[in-house]
Amino acid sequence: MAGGVSDPATSSLPLVQFSALPDVIDLGWGHPDPDLLPVDELRRAAGEAARRWGPDLFAYGYAQGPAPLLTWLAGRLGEVDERAPDPSAIVITAGASNALDMTITQSTQPGDVALVESPTYHIAVKLLRDHALEVVPIRRDADGADLDDLTAALDRLQRAGRQPRLFYTIPTFHNPTGGVMPLDRRIELVRLAESRELLIVEDDAYRELFYDEPPPPSLWSLATPGSVVRVGSFSKTLAPGLRVGFLTAEPRMTTRLSQSGLLDSGGGIAHVPALTVAVLAESGFYARHVERLRSAYAARRDALVGALASGLPETVGLKRPDGGFFVWLTLPAGRSASALLELAQGRGVSFMPGNAFSLTDGLEANLRLSFSRYGPDQLEEAGHRISAAFHQAGAHH
Ligand SMILES: Cc1ncc(COP(=O)(O)O)c(C=O)c1O
Repeated sequence: MAGGVSDPATSSLPLVQFSALPDVIDLGWGHPDPDLLPVDELRRAAGEAARRWGPDLFAYGYAQGPAPLLTWLAGRLGEVDERAPDPSAIVITAGASNALDMTITQSTQPGDVALVESPTYHIAVKLLRDHALEVVPIRRDADGADLDDLTAALDRLQRAGRQPRLFYTIPTFHNPTGGVMPLDRRIELVRLAESRELLIVEDDAYRELFYDEPPPPSLWSLATPGSVVRVGSFSKTLAPGLRVGFLTAEPRMTTRLSQSGLLDSGGGIAHVPALTVAVLAESGFYARHVERLRSAYAARRDALVGALASGLPETVGLKRPDGGFFVWLTLPAGRSASALLELAQGRGVSFMPGNAFSLTDGLEANLRLSFSRYGPDQLEEAGHRISAAFHQAGAHH
């Protein structure tokens, strides 16, 4: 993986977080394809926001986020989820990352315990550790967090006199596995959390990016108000550089957040980009764009999965994900993803080994491939290169 892109006109410091080496198809990063970012529409929308709101666009924003986005988003969530939040139950944030950070700030003290399904989005674990939390892993199966393991962990901690402050989970198009928690387990999880007074922090960043059937309702929509904070994002559906995301919680939590030092001092986070998003939302562009992304990413997923399925033996576990950005492979027993990575990189393709996402050992045979950043032809080529590396590794085995 390369570092960022330099802007030679201004300095040698990078402009962006990641850029691939020219001859490597790097499936390690779950970033949107630059070709799918609606640059012209965003430019026009920013101009339109300045015309429409004038100085109010450049003032300190309303702490919870600007009204046009809050109102539209409440309606949109009602369409793509089971239940619409009241606009007062939403806070606009600088992406899902900032929503997670703010939620953790509000709900924990250093030294507290946070539960996390494993494997999980590795940078969420980093966020929890930024707050000096003790992170305790909960097992996952193909359908999501294992509720028996969650119950056992809660019992164990209770006996030790410790009440975990939150449980971080990605029930919908899970990063890294692509899995979706079925409705019955969602209901069971929400009931369990309510009965144990455990706050669920639901990462719903991929809800809109389904390629077949829409996903089941969010945990937030199934729960009694107060037991789930759901975080969402426009990073995957519009552009990550906007840094616009949100959380939905009960009004008591959103009020606490609005009155926090961060929002009281600085006003609404991402005010200018949030109103830019509002312009694209109100014009109907956002909804049309998400439709286009669904078919673009479905074609990419199919190109990668198709090439892998034709090149790899059936002993490799491979499931076509129904949404999100990731394909998760399980190599046959005894085979190692890091050994495969070395050979794959020699053939001009890269990925993330499963251990990166694990809080425990034992994912040495897994790997995550992101199909978000390249077009179908390159993804097909990447699939062939990975298959060739797999067979090469087998020859050494
Ligand atoms: C599960 C998950 N949560 C959060 C994020 C970060 O999102 P944002 O750009 O909105 O901060 C990502 C991005 O990769 C993700 O995969």
